[in-house]
Amino acid sequence: MKNYDSVRHVKGESLFIDDLSIPSSALFGAVYASPIAHGKILSISLEEAKASEGVVAVFTQSDIPGVNQIGGIIHDEKLLASEYVHFIGEPIAFITAKTQSQARLAAKKVKVEFEKLEVITDPKDAFRKGSLIVNDPKIYINGNVDEVWDKCDLIVEDTVELGGQEHLYLETQSSISYPTEGGGLKIISSTQNPTAIQRTAASVLNISANQIESEVSRLGGGFGGKEDQATAWACLTALAAYKLKKPVKLILSRQDDMRMTGKRHPYTSDYKIGFSGEGKILAYEVTYYQNAGAAADLSLPILDRTLAHCTNSYFIPNVKATGWCCKTNLPPNTAFRGFGGPQGMFVIESAIHKASKLLGIEPHLIQALNLFKEGDEFPYGQKIENGKSQECWQRIFEKYDIDAVKRDLETFNSNNKLFKKGYALMPICFGISFTHTMLNQASALVHVYSDGSVGISTGAIEMGQGVNMKIRQIAANIFNVNLSRIKSETTNTTRNANTSATAASSGADLNGNAASIACNAILKRLINFFAEKNNIEDINSVEIRNEKLFVNGADFNYSWNDLVLNAYHNRINLSEHSFYATPDIYFDTKTNKGKPFAYHVYGTSLFISKVDCLRGTYEIESVKIIHDIGQSINKVIDRSQAEGALVQGIGWVTLEEIIYNSDGRLLTDNLSTYKVPDINFTPKDIEIEFLENSYNKPGPMNSKAIGEPPFMYGIGAYFAIRNAVESFNGRKEMKYEAPLTPERVLMNLYNNK
Ligand code: MTE
Ligand code: HPA
Ligand code: MOS
Repeated sequence: MKNYDSVRHVKGESLFIDDLSIPSSALFGAVYASPIAHGKILSISLEEAKASEGVVAVFTQSDIPGVNQIGGIIHDEKLLASEYVHFIGEPIAFITAKTQSQARLAAKKVKVEFEKLEVITDPKDAFRKGSLIVNDPKIYINGNVDEVWDKCDLIVEDTVELGGQEHLYLETQSSISYPTEGGGLKIISSTQNPTAIQRTAASVLNISANQIESEVSRLGGGFGGKEDQATAWACLTALAAYKLKKPVKLILSRQDDMRMTGKRHPYTSDYKIGFSGEGKILAYEVTYYQNAGAAADLSLPILDRTLAHCTNSYFIPNVKATGWCCKTNLPPNTAFRGFGGPQGMFVIESAIHKASKLLGIEPHLIQALNLFKEGDEFPYGQKIENGKSQECWQRIFEKYDIDAVKRDLETFNSNNKLFKKGYALMPICFGISFTHTMLNQASALVHVYSDGSVGISTGAIEMGQGVNMKIRQIAANIFNVNLSRIKSETTNTTRNANTSATAASSGADLNGNAASIACNAILKRLINFFAEKNNIEDINSVEIRNEKLFVNGADFNYSWNDLVLNAYHNRINLSEHSFYATPDIYFDTKTNKGKPFAYHVYGTSLFISKVDCLRGTYEIESVKIIHDIGQSINKVIDRSQAEGALVQGIGWVTLEEIIYNSDGRLLTDNLSTYKVPDINFTPKDIEIEFLENSYNKPGPMNSKAIGEPPFMYGIGAYFAIRNAVESFNGRKEMKYEAPLTPERVLMNLYNNK
């Protein structure tokens, strides 16, 4: 099939930034970054770097013609450090040379003297020292927790520690900037947010946005890591290209990328939860200490999503959730699939798990008892509408005999001394829309060419999630023509202006709905034209089926090609620019109440783990999922998104461990020390059933978003493994901390406390 990214990928035909042919005048960039995590810059010496072979120019903050600032939400992040540095990997100088190796070699010759300052890496430590991104916490409240503690039969308090996660997109951060005539620039970069690059580069260079064309063909993965953090690298090439009037290209090496860019936010969270004797949750108070790193980046909206998802799929009448955005000397942490939701959801699952032992009620019974029902209210005031928590939960029990699973595991565990199995159920509920209402907008530009082919430009970025395919399917479905006629164009700010990042799982929703509006407008003009030409009064009697026109159900012997060509000859407009803004959503940031999400995605999963109690190694034997996708636009894409997200989620809570030392140095900065799930670790048995008869009005073709929600099923792996460990060690005191690496498992198996 033509124009199908996956086919081009396997043929090696897809072009990523490093594959683009560049003119011989192009220069290559390398970054000199801070080697210390916090300090004052005393002196910078560039002589040796400048004299290095092949070097053309070296840029520092004083070369910036506009504002030295790339912070999107809070202006607290410089493009190139000036007086102070705040993390290891913070760019200080940008070197351009004739070849990439010359540039990288020269970067090593920059000399900077620092006065070292105190380094903070832990969020609670930062909180205690008053090191915060914003001084006030974010607080979401429902009911009044303080009025009900007395009425609880059980109160549990504990702390949960969650680690970060490296994005490990296959394509590292990359960009090329080309000077254009009249002092402008074309910036091609690997970003989820070309408009942010256009806006920020314009401000850094002190030129207007219309002087900058920002373009993306596709990404070799983003996972949130290129929502905000592609900007610095694009702006550096823009600065050099603007100054030198030559194309400049920058590709970060894998190790530089791992060292210099932010990751998923680690969190430390303290909670207090109150239950009735039967296991009803009566009150939940939680305080999240988010490790934001050295600058705000997207930490505040990420914290919003943590708070919004703090009760996962459960209705809790009294909730007080507080979030502190703590400033540390790590690279600014950033968006990562789930956007703070996973961190919020992990804590409530830990609370239920801990309480289950004290109540003597199994976790899944507590989960079931508290699951959302229609009309229940989220802590942010939105009510459950068309909720599917109950349906997904019931369906998994209907499909799999959980009591039999339990019996099998008990038998296995009593027959095996050194292998233990565990199971866990993990429901999810994830809100779809950017939490910042303003961002929920998109545009599309659709051209039908006189040969009947169609080109669609939207703000959506293809990063492997299949958004281009979905948008093409939406268009093919509206025009009722063959998919091969429809092409997704590159994403480009001169065709679609003021785009939002492709993020929040809403790329296909927002851009698909915009494309749908444009296609329908063109279709309407075509049908009106046809009806008028042929004296047909009722335009509803005209339809296109498989590229042919039918009137009152009868074949009119008139093709899509005839229609388009004739319309063109009759001066009918065959292009449309459309706009979509998600209706009926709002959020009051003073009260933290409103209806921030267009809808929610629901599901339930069942995990079975097997732990080798001699070695501490483990496997997830099977994962069964009932997932609510509404009406899937493309089941292959949706299934693979669900599988990919699931495995990435499992990786977060199991193998993937990011370690910084107390100097703020990343110790896990390559793939020999940072482990991600591979095909052998992936559960052998993953079964995903899409919930039937679910329809979603706000989604194109009644679909629901898929990108992020299944990530959070992965949390179930933690509890399944933990349960197996506990059946070996007799439920000795075990901290709630992730990732639960084989090393941690081993320590807990033989923890004699
Ligand atoms: N799938 C692939 N293959 N590569 C990616 O980078 N990013 C994820 C998800 N699925 C990603 C992916 C993230 S974080 C988001 S928000 C969504 O895709 C974004 O795309 P969508 O809004 O079109 O679903
Ligand atoms: N999700 C993902 N990315 C975002 C969001 C969100 O809710 N808000 C701003 N960027
Ligand atoms: Mo996804 S974390 O919203 O890019």
